[in-house]
Amino acid sequence: MASKKADDDKPAGDASDLETLRVLVVHGPNLNLLGEREPEVYGRTRLADIDRELKQLGDELGIRIETYQSNSEGDIVTRIQKARGKVDALLINPAGYTHTSVAIRDAILALEVPAVEVHLSNVYRREPMRHHSTIADVAVARIMGFGAPGYALALRGVRALVETARRQRA
Ligand code: DQA
Repeated sequence: MASKKADDDKPAGDASDLETLRVLVVHGPNLNLLGEREPEVYGRTRLADIDRELKQLGDELGIRIETYQSNSEGDIVTRIQKARGKVDALLINPAGYTHTSVAIRDAILALEVPAVEVHLSNVYRREPMRHHSTIADVAVARIMGFGAPGYALALRGVRALVETARRQRA
């Protein structure tokens, strides 16, 4: 296993072994209110707890996790742009922007790494306006309806995807 120091010394974008797998996790608008906001839909787990558990799971799986939440579409686009060449995968719940944002879709395309779309609720059991996603066809996979545990499922899935892709390339 590569040491932390050795990993830090690697140039940005180097993801030559699984120990250096890096995943950016992006949470969209209003997800900062998780735990308080419509708990009957989104559950009682707070965003800070989701992020902490993801980082713990990341440590177990050898994945370096960075988490980011914003209520602003432009800030989300900028954060995804900043990750270009520096992450191996994106895990994103664009929240309300899921249904409207061409800009976030374009940023995901420009990132050029596998993106997994996550939703706490099963959007297909909800209002028709939530049935459309601007990113569904650019995501490699989608997870929804599991509540907070869906993030951990998505992270395990991401690792399996990247591992398979690397084996195929080797
Ligand atoms: C959500 C579903 C969206 O429709 C909604 O706007 C959200 C959260 C979810 O995780 O279930 O804010 O993305």
